[in-house]
Amino acid sequence: MKTYKLAIIGFGNVGQGLTKIISDKKQLLIEKFGINLSIVAVCDLYKGSLSNPDGLDPEVLLSNLEKHGDLKSTSAPITGWNATETIDKSGADILVELAFTDLQTGEPAVSHVKQALNNGMHVSMTNKGPVALHFPELRKIALSNNVQIGIEGTVMSGTPSINLGSEMLLAAGITKIQGILNGTTNYILGEMSSGSGYEDALKQAQELGYAEADPTGDVEGYDAAAKVVILGNLLMDLSLTLDDIDREGISHITNNDISNATYLNKHWKLIGTVEKHNDGFLASVKPEMISSEHPLASIKGATNAITYSTELLGDITLIGPGAGRLETGYAVIEDILSIHKNSR
Ligand code: HSE
Repeated sequence: MKTYKLAIIGFGNVGQGLTKIISDKKQLLIEKFGINLSIVAVCDLYKGSLSNPDGLDPEVLLSNLEKHGDLKSTSAPITGWNATETIDKSGADILVELAFTDLQTGEPAVSHVKQALNNGMHVSMTNKGPVALHFPELRKIALSNNVQIGIEGTVMSGTPSINLGSEMLLAAGITKIQGILNGTTNYILGEMSSGSGYEDALKQAQELGYAEADPTGDVEGYDAAAKVVILGNLLMDLSLTLDDIDREGISHITNNDISNATYLNKHWKLIGTVEKHNDGFLASVKPEMISSEHPLASIKGATNAITYSTELLGDITLIGPGAGRLETGYAVIEDILSIHKNSR
């Protein structure tokens, strides 16, 4: 059995979801995969920092947080370490990078990830910014240190969109990727078609925890654009930047636009597309009115979906959650399973 020591930076919804999974699935991970996951450090800007080289009890972490709203009151050694110190001193094998990160710069996650890779740690991260902006550089650092980076949670949370594309479909020749890549906007458009106003629907999406801290990233299409960049670069060998994406959000869509679509038996969806052409590529995020027969028309609520068009298999559509505490926490488990498989 192989034990992996994890340091978690950022202990919000995803970190807590991951901790719950590590507790609930401990035996299964040992029996089916031969891996034992031990959280040796947690560092959160607001909730405190703890470390124990013998492992922190996941249930105690979660119950303390629930009781006290922070991690400081736990019996584990309180280190007070910041993220940099946690990466340097915790003795972890894997950095789980979940800190709140700016989509425009990728910081502070990019710095944490570089530091960990240079220290010889593997990394699993769910933040889109570092991957959309700096992945080639991060991959180079990982290669030169003989470690791996997992990024499954950056697109469609734990729904295995990256794994499916990069492991199973890559050799089938992916020619086009098209999908609903943002749950918040799909939820808002769906609520508007049931009669809600835009502002009310956005408020509901925030209350349900789908929207980013600043929902501009969702409603103006930046979040989906980052996902298009990640998919295009990783699965279609492109070198896209966020500026390459022809981007338009949904904030200008009115209830009148929605009614007109319904009258025509169509649905407004925010669609992300990346497609190779002989003379380059097309990459966009924009609201499109699609007919009821289109495979993406039936995607409801905050669910995401991606259709991969391939040379050998035609179209393959993957539908699943795009956000959520356990759903994104599970993406980290998938990353660790890949790291384990590829290390052997
Ligand atoms: N705010 C994002 C969404 C969360 O609504 O899809 C996952 O990236």
